[in-house]
Amino acid sequence: MNIQSANELRSLFLRFFEEKGHARIPSASVIPENDPTVLFTTAGMHPLVPYLMGEKHPMGTRLTDVQKCIRTGDIDDVGDPSHLTFFEMLGNWSLGDYFKKEMIPWSWEFLTSKDWLGLDPDKLAFTVFEGDQDAPRDEEAANLWRAQGVKDDHLFYLPKKHNWWGPAGITGPCGPDTEMFIIRDQPPCGPDCSPACSCGRYLEIWNDVFMQYEKQADGTFVPLKQKNVDTGMGLERTYCVLMGAGTVYETEIFSGIIGKIEELSGRKYGQDPSPFASSPTTCVPLPSSSATTGA
Ligand code: GLY
Repeated sequence: MNIQSANELRSLFLRFFEEKGHARIPSASVIPENDPTVLFTTAGMHPLVPYLMGEKHPMGTRLTDVQKCIRTGDIDDVGDPSHLTFFEMLGNWSLGDYFKKEMIPWSWEFLTSKDWLGLDPDKLAFTVFEGDQDAPRDEEAANLWRAQGVKDDHLFYLPKKHNWWGPAGITGPCGPDTEMFIIRDQPPCGPDCSPACSCGRYLEIWNDVFMQYEKQADGTFVPLKQKNVDTGMGLERTYCVLMGAGTVYETEIFSGIIGKIEELSGRKYGQDPSPFASSPTTCVPLPSSSATTGA
C-alpha cells in the first residue's frame, strides 16, 4: 500500500483491525479520568485499564483506536531522531478474547503484506521476553514469529527491562511483550549490536503486549482473570519509516509547526544546531521498553 499521508496510515491501521472484528473507539483525553497514579495518558492501554482487569466494555472484546499520548519518562531523549513527548499511538486490544496465536500473524500481515504496509521482511527484527522469576521465556511468541518466516538472526530474547510493558502507574495490568523493529541502513555498532541498544540501527515501531498479570503494590505479579492483548504502534515513527525520512520531525506531521517556528524565530531547522544535540554512536541500553514505541 502506497501511503501518502499520516492520515492514510491512521485509516489503514483502523481498517485492518475493523476487518478483524474490532470496534473503533475514539481517543481518550490526555488528562486521565479517575486515575491518580499518573499525570497524563501515557499509552493507549491507559484509559482501558478497568476493561483489561475484567470489566465489560460496551463496544465488546476487540477494540482499535488512535490514542493521543504524553510521555515524559524518556524526556532526556527527546530531540534525537525518534523520541517525542506528545505522540499518537495506533492500537488494538483483545479484552480476554484472542491472544498470541492470532496477534503475531496479524502483526506480520500488517507489516509485510503489500495490501497493508508492505515492509521488506529482511528489514524487520523482533524481540521476545527471555523469561525470569515472574514469567516464563516466551518461546510461544518466538515460534509464532519463526512460523511467519522470521530467521533466528532477526529474533532476539531480551529481559524485562526491554520486553515487559506496564503497569501504567505503580500497580495494575502488565505483561511480557514482543517488539517490532525496522533495521535502518546503518551498520551494526559492534558485535553485540541488537534492538537492546540505542545506536539507531534498530528502531522500534510496534509492540504487542500480552497483558496477563497484575503488578501488586508489594512488587509481585499475579495472573489476571483474563488474558489480554494491548498493541501500540507509534504513528510518527512508522510514518517516518514509510516516508524514508531521517527523523520523526521531517515529515508533514511536523512541517507546519516547524515552518511557523522558523518564521517566528528567524532560524532555520537543521541549520542552527542545538547545543544539546547529540547522536549516540555506541551501544547503550534503552531506558525501558515502556518508553520505546512512540515517545
Ligand atoms: N502497547 C503499549 C505501549 O507501547 O504503550
